[in-house]
Amino acid sequence: MTSPHHSFLWSFVLLWALRTPSGGAADSGPSAAGSLVWGPGLEADVVLPARFFFIQAVDGAGQNFTSSPGEKTFQVKVSSLSEPFSRIWVQVLDRKDGSFVVRYRMYASYTDLQIQVLLKDQNVAKSPYILKGHVYHEGCDCPEPDGEVWAEQMRCPASFPQIQRDLSAFPRVDPQLNAHEIPQRFGRRQSLCHYTIKDNKVYIKTHGEHVGFRIFMDAFLLSLTRKVRVPDLELFVNLGDWPLEKRQPHEKLHPIFSWCGSNDTQDIVMPTYDLSESVLETMGRVSLDMLSVQGNSGPPWGQKNQTALWRGRDSRRERLELVKLGRAHPDLLDAAFTNFFFFKHDEGLYGPLVKHMSFFDFFKYKYQINIDGTVAAYRFPYLLAGGSVVLKQDSAYYEHFYQELTPWEHYVPFKADLSDLLEKLRWARGHDEQAKRIALAGQQFARTHLMGDSVFCYYFRLFQVIGAGRLLPYFSRFFRSAPLRSVKSVASFLLMSFYVGGGGLAVKEVAL
Ligand SMILES: *[C@@H]1O[C@H](CO)[C@@H](O)[C@H](O)[C@H]1NC(C)=O
Ligand SMILES: *[C@@H]1O[C@H](CO)[C@@H](O)[C@H](O)[C@H]1NC(C)=O
Ligand SMILES: *[C@@H]1O[C@H](CO)[C@@H](O)[C@H](O)[C@H]1NC(C)=O
Repeated sequence: MTSPHHSFLWSFVLLWALRTPSGGAADSGPSAAGSLVWGPGLEADVVLPARFFFIQAVDGAGQNFTSSPGEKTFQVKVSSLSEPFSRIWVQVLDRKDGSFVVRYRMYASYTDLQIQVLLKDQNVAKSPYILKGHVYHEGCDCPEPDGEVWAEQMRCPASFPQIQRDLSAFPRVDPQLNAHEIPQRFGRRQSLCHYTIKDNKVYIKTHGEHVGFRIFMDAFLLSLTRKVRVPDLELFVNLGDWPLEKRQPHEKLHPIFSWCGSNDTQDIVMPTYDLSESVLETMGRVSLDMLSVQGNSGPPWGQKNQTALWRGRDSRRERLELVKLGRAHPDLLDAAFTNFFFFKHDEGLYGPLVKHMSFFDFFKYKYQINIDGTVAAYRFPYLLAGGSVVLKQDSAYYEHFYQELTPWEHYVPFKADLSDLLEKLRWARGHDEQAKRIALAGQQFARTHLMGDSVFCYYFRLFQVIGAGRLLPYFSRFFRSAPLRSVKSVASFLLMSFYVGGGGLAVKEVAL
């Protein structure tokens, strides 16, 4: 046992002692002056579809609260000083650990926004916060011309490990050849979208039949180019589930951009369409996003159900095995299908289909199983954020952030064939403090690395490296056609895929 662990335990015991009624200081509620307020939503320059910041309740003795001081403890008012009828939707989400996330979505651009954080009638910390000058709406076409200035305002990391790894396989690329060869190699059987960004305008040409998913990429590129000037570049985005470039690095590789990477392909990964879309639609069309999940993380650790939980579709054979395991060991694992699509449904083996369960209800359970679907399970970011401990299947598939996670630190790993899953579940039950520590570390990672600002930063850093000449733009002729201006309604796309029974269904289920 390392010493940081000891000091952690000590401060835990100390806090606990202080917070019991006999501890004295604990009787006082949160202190307005002592509580902490911070985050990107307090800065005018951080333009996000839904802006957000945090509050930490601190008592009069300077101790952080570690459980909720009450859902309605803090009131937040956001208004424009120059516009009396500003329409701004504010939500305060109780994270139940003594901290809160506040998010707001503006209906227009404003100047001089005032954010008041109140405890009873007192201003908290440095409230009121004034965001001086232009506070742009998500839809404002107001790109910062200097990418480095924007990256600094956004506090973007200088680089991301996955970007460096992905692009190291492409020391030099002939863009002119790519523009000819990629559609030839992949464009008939796969669905690709060839994007060109020139003078911060987006041009597209699609290849293949099923290109509906391009709306997610279109929407994100338009949103990014409204915020910052993106270098001139071209990229081929794979709109299908599976990564495509199976050649070895010593062969001639083609740069293909995919939402999911794998150990045996060389695709360049981007944040998934699911995560990107949920950033754009936070407080909009989607109810599950990286902020809402923080306000719906279920009961405190000690009151969570000790049975592991899994729900989803039959999109991979191991999922069938998982459900069988659950049926054999119902005390350890509650795993059931909500949908059968890929395999023949044998109710005798896999049980009856169960009703769809709200994702937020997952966090009534202490142990969450993350198991591949068609590719990586795109629910992983949300599971990490929830405050349960995630048991993750070893997998050849990965998303853009897996590289930064460490097994046993952020999640409990289990083997790809599930052979040690029960053993790992028993371990977690028998080592509750360690399991809780892993849950908190995973949650902390999600809170700091998987939020909307990080997703924008990831795309921008990726495009910066590409635009800086690693993959020189060639600019095929079609960019002289009209640039993309807006995205066809996402809702109509979903409706359409519903009727044709296509893959679009997966979108609403967060690839459950
Ligand atoms: C109190 O919470 C803040 C915000 O999460 C954190 O930065 C700080 O380290 C915490 N203080 C202590 C003493 O744990
Ligand atoms: C925990 O969950 C399992 C499986 O969903 C259920 O059978 C059990 O009754 C729950 N236990 C408690 C204490 O609620
Ligand atoms: C994939 O690669 C990662 C990182 O090198 C490794 O930890 C993992 O075991 C590999 N998984 C499979 C199934 O190949």
